Amino acid sequence: MEAAVIAGLIRQASDAMQYSYAPYSRFRVGAALLAEDGSIFTGVNVENAAYPAGICAERTAFSKAVSQGLRQFRAIAIVGAGISGSPADFCYPCGFCRQVMAEFCGGDFVVIAALSPTEYRVMTLGELLPCSFGKNQLES
Ligand code: THU
Repeated sequence: MEAAVIAGLIRQASDAMQYSYAPYSRFRVGAALLAEDGSIFTGVNVENAAYPAGICAERTAFSKAVSQGLRQFRAIAIVGAGISGSPADFCYPCGFCRQVMAEFCGGDFVVIAALSPTEYRVMTLGELLPCSFGKNQLES
């Protein structure tokens, strides 16, 4: 994937962080999901007083995209930081988010954990979630 495309996704993920609703963890996360058709969906974490009802930025982005009819995706960029600071460490997707990615994406789906548009790590979903459970198991 081209560096310019990666940097653009990271910028969108980073810009989205301002809308994160994270009064409990005080940790903001922004994600930008690139669909196969070139469209981009951002997402943020949206927490809740009943803690488990909160949702991660990545799943917000997937829910927005799927709600608009998209089901094929190429990449997602993720940026996370404490409420008043800039990213101190890479924010990798949690297990639930990896599983949601696996519902719609193959092992070659690109996951970008970023500190800035120039400092990032690129991984694949296959690396992050090997031997995943999916619809094939239900059909066997
Ligand atoms: N969070 C995300 O949105 N994405 C991740 O990849 C890791 C964690 C959120 C969930 C919660 O609102 C906050 O970060 C602290 O866990």
